[in-house]
Amino acid sequence: MKLGKRKLIMFTIIITIAVTAIAGFVLVQYKDRTYFNSPPYEAELAKPSDVLVVYFSRSGYTEAMAREIARKFNADTVNIKSDKYSLDFTGWRNAANDADAQVTSVEITPETIDMSKYRLIFIGSPIWWYRPAPPLWTFVEKNNFLGKNVILFNTFNSRFKNEEIAKFQEALTKNNGKLLDHVFVRRGRVYYQITGQELIEQSKITVEEKMEEWLKVQ
Ligand SMILES: Cc1cc2nc3c(=O)[nH]c(=O)nc-3n(C[C@H](O)[C@H](O)[C@H](O)COP(=O)(O)O)c2cc1C
Repeated sequence: MKLGKRKLIMFTIIITIAVTAIAGFVLVQYKDRTYFNSPPYEAELAKPSDVLVVYFSRSGYTEAMAREIARKFNADTVNIKSDKYSLDFTGWRNAANDADAQVTSVEITPETIDMSKYRLIFIGSPIWWYRPAPPLWTFVEKNNFLGKNVILFNTFNSRFKNEEIAKFQEALTKNNGKLLDHVFVRRGRVYYQITGQELIEQSKITVEEKMEEWLKVQ
């Protein structure tokens, strides 16, 4: 009888864990297929800027942050595309596998950008497996950042690792870039995430707090 009760408790615990894990996975897959369409942005041609915002975004959240940064500086923007990370299960699996293997070279479009007219360059991506996503590493590997101040920006759910950001800085330094800062918006774990609008508000505040300081750096 005693053994039966213990077995029942164990069974209940295992089922609860399994159901929570499955529900989490289903929720991630569902949310992962929904692109967040943030308000569009276009630089005003009459006010040329020496700031560029380059970003990769799989589901729209880093794009939302990129657009808010760009709005503050009237910056030009470049959206890096990478077909293998489509917004379906195959894309998610490719993302998970490549991030886990710390891949730093994938097909991206565009691969190189003429950055001669820019002084300050923002580069952004989501965090995958605690580090910037592979397309951003590829972009850094393929371009020369000589004389450029660079600010890394990321969106993510819960955490990144500082040692991975340090590795990213090393890759940038190897191609002559100077990392000025790292800014980010944490969305929260999949069960209690901030909304897209809240992410936009937080992006605005993050930029406003630091923009004067960034612009002072020669
Ligand atoms: C394959 C994969 C791995 C992820 N790994 C992490 C992680 O290590 N830490 C984290 O906080 N969020 C992680 N996330 C969540 C994303 O960073 C987060 O949803 C991000 O805001 C998505 O940005 P995007 O809409 O620009 O693609 C991961 C997402 C995917 C698809």
